[in-house]
Amino acid sequence: MNIFLIGFMGTGKSTISTVLGKELSTEVIEMDELIVKRQGMPISQIFETRGEEYFRELETGLLVELQQRDGVIVSCGGGTPMRECNVAEMKKSGIIVLLTARPETIFERVRYSHNRPLIEHNKTAEYIAELLEKRREKYEAAADVTIATDGKDTREICREIQDSV
Ligand code: S3P
Repeated sequence: MNIFLIGFMGTGKSTISTVLGKELSTEVIEMDELIVKRQGMPISQIFETRGEEYFRELETGLLVELQQRDGVIVSCGGGTPMRECNVAEMKKSGIIVLLTARPETIFERVRYSHNRPLIEHNKTAEYIAELLEKRREKYEAAADVTIATDGKDTREICREIQDSV
């Protein structure tokens, strides 16, 4: 079984999957990182030069490829579960863990990062709340397990995940 970590930008997918991977002695696959490595350019440049749809196709292709794997932790991109076919791919081989956080918490976590093209033009708690609201239903529908991360430290979140998978 694989573990897929999903959630909005800044909900801690990368940090949690790294620590969880160490605790479970499991390989971690960071989708964004792998896409960046293969394309040879940062996410913002992929969006700029090839467009968002191209990036979404890369995500879907990668998920199909990951079905060959077993026993890995996959840290998804924030938008990965917006496509139903992606959710179906994940369900074929694993359990989907949704990490959530309040918009204010997300804002504090992403405010100094510069590689998130979807919020780069309007990086405010209000805009994050708006985008999150548009996506909420799909995140919730995809999730097998949901973990709220506000006010919790990494170890606590990892323990909750281990207790529920
Ligand atoms: C995206 C989230 C990003 C990255 C891309 C698009 C999104 O991943 O995949 O910028 O649509 O929410 P993180 O959630 O790791 O920031």
